[in-house]
Amino acid sequence: MILYNRNRRLRANQSLRDLVKETVLTTNDFMLPVFITEGQGVVEEIPSMPGIYRRSLDQTVKEVKELWSLGIKAVNLYVKVSDTLKDNTGKEAWNKEGLMQQSIKAIKDAVPEIVVMPDVALDPYSIHGHDGIVEDGKILNDETVEALVKMSLSHAEAGADFIAPSDMMDGRVLAIREALEQNGFSDVGIMSYAAKYASSFYGPFRDALDSAPGFGDKKTYQMDYANSREAINEALRDIEEGADIVMVKPGLPYLDIVSRLHELVDVPVAVYQVSGEYAMIKAAVQNGWLDNDKIILESLTCIKRAGASLISTYFAKEAAILLNQ
Ligand code: PBG
Repeated sequence: MILYNRNRRLRANQSLRDLVKETVLTTNDFMLPVFITEGQGVVEEIPSMPGIYRRSLDQTVKEVKELWSLGIKAVNLYVKVSDTLKDNTGKEAWNKEGLMQQSIKAIKDAVPEIVVMPDVALDPYSIHGHDGIVEDGKILNDETVEALVKMSLSHAEAGADFIAPSDMMDGRVLAIREALEQNGFSDVGIMSYAAKYASSFYGPFRDALDSAPGFGDKKTYQMDYANSREAINEALRDIEEGADIVMVKPGLPYLDIVSRLHELVDVPVAVYQVSGEYAMIKAAVQNGWLDNDKIILESLTCIKRAGASLISTYFAKEAAILLNQ
């Protein structure tokens, strides 16, 4: 056979494959979601997320030092607070001495160069487990945005580098941006969870924070997984409102959205490979059905190939160790 194109030529050996490789994963691509709980000396594994822990702040600081030494440049912070601090206003969310505010300070003191991005949403503080204030079974938009602004300012005061609103209320990026500007925090960025879907892949995360909604679901604020045009609209609006980075969430099942956004917008697109994606992979690995190291690197490389500039992933530490070998 005479063939002018033999595509296998470029795959013939590792050197050739390396030369034509389009996507190279590095530790600079990762953010690690970190769960912080009250107390001292606490390290609790999350049953539905083997290998992922809730840690008290003292243990978290130790861990973050290690993450930094592995080359991880950013952490996304989530806190689990006791039920006694929860109500329908979410006011613990902007307590200057709250667990999140203390955590931001302690991490920035210990590892000043790591980028600290606290989560902004009311669910860890809500008696209803919703991301906003509830009235007559509805999640109020504008009242919630006011609460999120207070929360964001308290994070900025504590030293956060980036505010990461994950609540999906309308107009919150603009309100947070204006408040940051007016209060001397013009250097604090916003990574908006712009295209966040109402997804069953968040189950293990809600176990981790004990934050499952007490009634109903999150479909009046998070997006319908049947839609993609809506994701573009959400992202464009957030960029107009002042978002520096827009995020798509979940990751692997939503790479079509990532790819479309990457083509359309000129700000970095972040992807959150969420708890359920982690749990699925780990469960298969524990059964001996998938190869742990290979599947981690493949899944993350594919997310980057689709157009992610940065990836929030529970695999960040393991992947960093693999990439450093
Ligand atoms: C809450 C929030 C959730 C996640 C990040 N921030 C859960 C939810 O919206 O119910 C999910 C992350 C994951 O599953 O890893 N605002």
